[in-house]
Amino acid sequence: MKDLSFWNGKRVFLTGHTGFKGTWMSRILVTNGAILTGYSLEAPTDPNLFSLAGLEGKMTSVIGDIRDLESMKKAFDEADPEIVIHMAAQPIVRDSYKDPRYTYETNVMGTVNILECVRASKNVKSFLNVTTDKVYQNNEWVWGYRENEPLDGFDPYSNSKSCSELVTHSYKNSFFMTEDAPAISTARAGNVIGGGDFANDRIIPDCVRAAMGTKEIVVRNPYSTRPYQHVFEPVFAYLMIAKAQYEDKSLQGWYNVGPDDCDCVCTGDIVDMFVKNWEGVRRVDKTEANAPHEANFLKLDSSKLKKTFGWTPVWHIDEAIARVVEWTRVYEAGGDIPAIMDKQINDYISKG
Ligand SMILES: NC(=O)c1ccc[n+]([C@@H]2O[C@H](COP(=O)([O-])OP(=O)(O)OC[C@H]3O[C@@H](n4cnc5c(N)ncnc54)[C@H](O)[C@@H]3O)[C@@H](O)[C@H]2O)c1
Repeated sequence: MKDLSFWNGKRVFLTGHTGFKGTWMSRILVTNGAILTGYSLEAPTDPNLFSLAGLEGKMTSVIGDIRDLESMKKAFDEADPEIVIHMAAQPIVRDSYKDPRYTYETNVMGTVNILECVRASKNVKSFLNVTTDKVYQNNEWVWGYRENEPLDGFDPYSNSKSCSELVTHSYKNSFFMTEDAPAISTARAGNVIGGGDFANDRIIPDCVRAAMGTKEIVVRNPYSTRPYQHVFEPVFAYLMIAKAQYEDKSLQGWYNVGPDDCDCVCTGDIVDMFVKNWEGVRRVDKTEANAPHEANFLKLDSSKLKKTFGWTPVWHIDEAIARVVEWTRVYEAGGDIPAIMDKQINDYISKG
């Protein structure tokens, strides 16, 4: 059973709160008593989980751009946080090919800007930058990447996140080495799935759209193998790291947050699992001739997180897909979304 009492009364600043991961994290934080300020652009999709999650009045939501330092600093200073979690990003690989400059501006200068806010603050004790498994130079080998391996993502999204890591490392070395400086960490997680993801160009949202519409799931890259994890796995791991380093600065560091080997499956298999859970939908493979490069095989070695914190994943891939279906059935029926979110959070907490 996870204990979240630490968060009661803590002042938290979260960028990317209107996104998929950010909304789940916001719901967990506010239901556990955190004084939460979120800073992001409007939710990136329509529909979106943020507007369904019943968060109005329970947190301060500031709509602004992380590229705009002045605007972010104003919100930051008003929030006066003790804990900062940075999730706002342009997170889609294909969009990064369409607009690399915007992707770099958001993902790199956005990181510089949030770190500038942290640097000017006297009260931040814990800063966590959320990056991705794609930060590593991908050798397309079978072994999991470790935290000390070269950071050099291929496409503009992945590479901008490698840069975001390096920016964080430099700020830590340059400005946060004194005893009273905040603890600084990054967390590199894999592909997440869960209820309420409406993003384009991600496989589970594609499955959900097909289930509620055409009934045909088009699979572009059926043999690409990626680590999949339920959104709660990284979100609870982020909270665990942010809390741990708040209490003991020696725990700061760079952490992989990947699933176990059994959850590194190819896209075709994940679609087959979804099809088993949702009668009437079928898989259609359509490999694209001129598709932009995307990694075919990538796996994280999460030994450091496991050894340091005794962490293990709670929900494996079959459970994760069942939970997407459970959430989507409620959404499809026009049911109570905050209630199903809280139920799933509580189910997870009581198992973990
Ligand atoms: N979803 C995944 O599978 C996955 C995997 C690994 C890492 N990540 C990382 O996790 C984080 C959250 O991802 P997500 O899936 O919730 O993405 P998302 O697209 O659902 O949310 C992105 C959030 O960032 C905000 N944002 C984007 N550009 C902004 C800007 N210029 N200024 C202010 N806010 C801006 C959006 O408004 C939104 O709140 C990202 O940093 C992403 O790189 C996601």
